[in-house]
Amino acid sequence: MSEGMTTEQIYMTPTPVRIWHWLNALGIVTLCITGIQIRFPEYANIFGTYKAAIKLHDVAGVTVSISFFLWIFYYLFVARSLVKLYVPNVEDIKRGLFTQAFFYFFYYFLGEKNPHTVSLDNKFNAIQKMSYLLIMFLFLPLVIASGLLLMNIAPLRGWIIMIGGIKFLVDAHYLIACSFFAFLCVHIYMATLGHTPFSHLRQMWTGWEEMESHPH
Ligand code: HEM
Repeated sequence: MSEGMTTEQIYMTPTPVRIWHWLNALGIVTLCITGIQIRFPEYANIFGTYKAAIKLHDVAGVTVSISFFLWIFYYLFVARSLVKLYVPNVEDIKRGLFTQAFFYFFYYFLGEKNPHTVSLDNKFNAIQKMSYLLIMFLFLPLVIASGLLLMNIAPLRGWIIMIGGIKFLVDAHYLIACSFFAFLCVHIYMATLGHTPFSHLRQMWTGWEEMESHPH
C-alpha cells in the first residue's frame, strides 16, 4: 500500500450476481471438460461412457442458459445497471482501452498503480467492460443458441439447414467454445491482478471489495 493510504470496504457485488457468477463458472468448466470428451472421445474418457459425458454436457448447458437469462433479468430490471456498468463510453474507447492495456502489459510489472479507480458506478475498467460485453452478449448467446440447436436436431432441422447445416453448426459451436476457454484462462489470470492476488476473488465471493483510500 502507498504511504499515507488506508483501506476501506465497498459492497461491490450483490448476492444474486455472485450466485450467478459461480454457478455459471461451474457450468462453463463442466461444459469445457465434458466437451473435450465429446469432441475427442478417442483421447479423453473422463466420465466413463460417451453417453454420460453428453448427458452432463446437456445438464450444464441448460443450467448456464437459464442462469444467463436470470442474470440479464436481474441487471436490467432489478439492479438496472447493465448499461452503466457494462457498456464502454466514448472515453473508454478513445483512451481507456489503451491506458488499461499499457498498464496490464507494462506498468503493472513496474509496480505502478492501476489507472482505473473502482467505484459502485464505474466498477469495470475499459478492457473489462469490452471483454465482459463481448462474452456476455455475443459469445454466450451464440454458444447457447448453437447448443440448443444441437440438443434438438430433429425438431429444429429446418433452422439448422437454414444456417448452413449440421457440420457448420458443430464446428461453430466448437470454435465458440474454444474462445470461451481462451477467455477463461485470461479471466482467471486477470482475477489475480488486484490489490492482492486474492482480493478480486474474495470480492467475488463475499461481495466486499477492499480499496485503498486517502485518509480524511
Ligand atoms: C473458474 C472460473 C472463474 C473465476 C475464478 C472467475 C473469477 C472472477 C473474479 C475474481 C471476478 C471479479 C473481478 C472482476 O470484477 O473482474 C469475476 C467477475 C466476472 N466474471 Fe468471472 N470467473 C470465472 C469464470 C467466469 C466465466 C465462465 C464467465 C462468463 C462466461 C465469467 C464472467 C464474469 C463476469 C461477467 C464478471 C463481472 C460480474 C459482475 O460483477 O457483474 N467468469 N470473475
